Amino acid sequence: MQRLETERLILRPFKDEDAADVYEYARDPRVGPPAGWPPHRDQDESLQIIRTVFAAPGVAAVVLKENGKVIGSAGFTDRHKVEQPAPNDELGYAMNPAFWGRGLMPEAARELLRYGFETLGLAAVCCSYYDDNNKSRRVIEKCGFTYTESIRSQVELLNEVRTEHCYLLTKKEWKK
Ligand SMILES: CC(C)(COP(=O)(O)OP(=O)(O)OC[C@H]1O[C@@H](n2cnc3c(N)ncnc32)[C@H](O)[C@@H]1OP(=O)(O)O)[C@@H](O)C(=O)NCCC(=O)NCCS
Repeated sequence: MQRLETERLILRPFKDEDAADVYEYARDPRVGPPAGWPPHRDQDESLQIIRTVFAAPGVAAVVLKENGKVIGSAGFTDRHKVEQPAPNDELGYAMNPAFWGRGLMPEAARELLRYGFETLGLAAVCCSYYDDNNKSRRVIEKCGFTYTESIRSQVELLNEVRTEHCYLLTKKEWKK
């Protein structure tokens, strides 16, 4: 992940030193479960996630410019849909509740979409939310995605079945 910048945010690769900031929000039951993962139990678990899941090339730490604090994660999950234009990838994100409601994740997501289409050469980006996660639905709508389908899916990390609402943004639609 190359360093990206928006008006209020820096998007950059995660570092081990971000573990305390990640744990601050990842321990909160309002954050992981709606996205399909359990709250982190301690800071070491956050460090392990930084070294594995967040070390993927398409994933960025969402950093507030004004104070350098890591307030979330956002990026491409390396999940691809064979039935959609290729190459495609899935956008995922989560943020510290103390910073919700300021339009920060739509700001990060728009820049990641630009990066995905212009730099990574993606033809389409998928994004989905689980039933009732209206906060994520709003981010998806604000970024210009189009609804495609709703499916029943197994949430592996929580051992649950949920309804997942799927959306797509093609490069062609994004350019408009
Ligand atoms: C989804 C998420 C990243 C949104 O980030 P954000 O920067 O707050 O996004 P926005 O400011 O655009 O707010 C989106 C919606 O959240 C709701 N919202 C905002 N602030 C809120 C708050 N303090 N409490 C409850 N809901 C709030 C509003 O419905 C808002 O929509 P609106 O702008 O039409 O009113 C954040 O809610 C989050 O981290 N949720 C938990 C993880 C998650 O669900 N990830 C996505 C998995 S698919």
